[in-house]
Amino acid sequence: MIPANVDLGKEQEAALSRPPRKYGLMASLLFRGMDTFYGKELSWGKIRLLEILARIPYQAWEIRQYKKMNSRFTDPDAVAFAEDVVGWSREAQDSEFWHLRVVDEKIKQDNVQLHWFKDRVMPSITAFKYSIFSRILAFISIRTAFMLNADFEDHAEHEYMTFAKEHPELDEQPAMSEVITRYRGDLKTWGDVMRFIGLEERDHMNNSLRRLGRVSEIVPIMGDDR
Ligand SMILES: [Fe+2]
Ligand SMILES: [Fe+2]
Repeated sequence: MIPANVDLGKEQEAALSRPPRKYGLMASLLFRGMDTFYGKELSWGKIRLLEILARIPYQAWEIRQYKKMNSRFTDPDAVAFAEDVVGWSREAQDSEFWHLRVVDEKIKQDNVQLHWFKDRVMPSITAFKYSIFSRILAFISIRTAFMLNADFEDHAEHEYMTFAKEHPELDEQPAMSEVITRYRGDLKTWGDVMRFIGLEERDHMNNSLRRLGRVSEIVPIMGDDR
């Protein structure tokens, strides 16, 4: 949960001075694949792809853990674990879907031209493949899935905070639209919108690490006392 009075500028600086996590093999391959196909530099089309993919593992966990809850309903520990993952996954899916809506709003406002293959066909194919992979991973090892997700979220935070820094013009662009008002009404510029989304990715990473018991790797958000 991001506190209402969070200092987005300070959190951005903290993110940029923090080295990325040591990414595992699966995360490294995923990032390398995206960089090869989309280029290393972030674009609105690439952000759109990241957000299309970001929701998928959470949905896979929700489905898997709900099934487990149903089949092991006499085991209080299994039910408690599954209930926690299901609740968190639903919340995180909503959060990622809002990111996608916000990014889509920016693309529409700026009339960003999306490539018919790279930005339209490929994301559907990639999402389909990632969905199958996420379902299998959630079935085999939910802990490995949490680990991959922590890396994915850390990568997203660093990418978005860097993007906001490399595009100072975003701080001159007022974030005005019904979508932004519904997402988070107190964000004034598109620079702040990107910083805020970046910070939510950190929160998603922390939630993954918390479930893994890797408390020492959690990166605190100022004012969040969990
Ligand atoms: Fe996201
Ligand atoms: Fe995320």
